[in-house]
Amino acid sequence: MQDKPVALVTGANKGIGLQIAKDLAAQGFRVLVGSRNLELGEAAAKSIGADARAVQFDVTNRASIAAAAERIRNELGRLDVLVNNAAISHLGKPGTSLEEMAKSGRLSVASLDEVRAVFETNVFGVIAVTQAMLPLLREAPAGRIVNVSSASGSLTLNSDPKNPHRSMFGTYSSSKTALNAITLAFALALESTGIKVNASCPGFTATGLNNFQGTRTVQQAAREPVRLALLDSNGPTGTFSNEDGPLPW
Ligand SMILES: NC(=O)c1ccc[n+]([C@@H]2O[C@H](COP(=O)([O-])OP(=O)(O)OC[C@H]3O[C@@H](n4cnc5c(N)ncnc54)[C@H](OP(=O)(O)O)[C@@H]3O)[C@@H](O)[C@H]2O)c1
Repeated sequence: MQDKPVALVTGANKGIGLQIAKDLAAQGFRVLVGSRNLELGEAAAKSIGADARAVQFDVTNRASIAAAAERIRNELGRLDVLVNNAAISHLGKPGTSLEEMAKSGRLSVASLDEVRAVFETNVFGVIAVTQAMLPLLREAPAGRIVNVSSASGSLTLNSDPKNPHRSMFGTYSSSKTALNAITLAFALALESTGIKVNASCPGFTATGLNNFQGTRTVQQAAREPVRLALLDSNGPTGTFSNEDGPLPW
């Protein structure tokens, strides 16, 4: 078994996930770079350093998730932190503007196939990966699960008529509402185990998810998920926050 704690970050071949993986490696973790494309995962792991290795799986493919969990058990024997970061915003072509995404993602017009695909990745994928990794996390001295969510999924913020962004509340953002719900459900189900499960918002960040129209850097975006991954035994569970503090559900 590894002496060092082990962290798995899903969708860590690029964007915010890659930065979370880098920061966790800098904090002394052996980092597993989850990637659905092995070559991209290996390149990302190489950019992090000797304490990183790629683990290929697609969060929508249960067989690949089970194989990854088995590999982690056989090769490392432990898992301390799971960061559920992988997500998609739409099914359209790369280069689709945020405005187009918001328009086609409105539930009055969104294609049901696209809604299903987004929820399959952003919600059911998180449930599937978390369930598969739970046996390892339960054995860890301080298991932590961080779900990378979004303030755009907050029902409270989107119910406020003064919120200028609420016209964008649609397929992607409602998948994050569902992610918040399952974060709380996992936190409650695991309350007696000491495993802490929290949701974080990285803020509006320049990545492929929003056609690089975000305004924050990945370094800024990684801070809150990493803070939650490092919570000590007095830290909270079942919360939703960004760098500035608690967010309303
Ligand atoms: N960027 C923002 O402004 C913002 C704001 C709030 C929340 N977030 C959240 O932050 C997280 C990271 O997003 P990002 O902005 O860094 O986006 P990104 O650069 O597009 O990265 C998304 C990652 O998820 C992976 N992924 C997608 N579907 C997958 C699947 N089925 N199986 C495995 N991996 C999959 C992608 O892999 P491929 O390279 O193979 O596509 C990629 O590595 C997401 O949960 C997102 O919702 C982002």
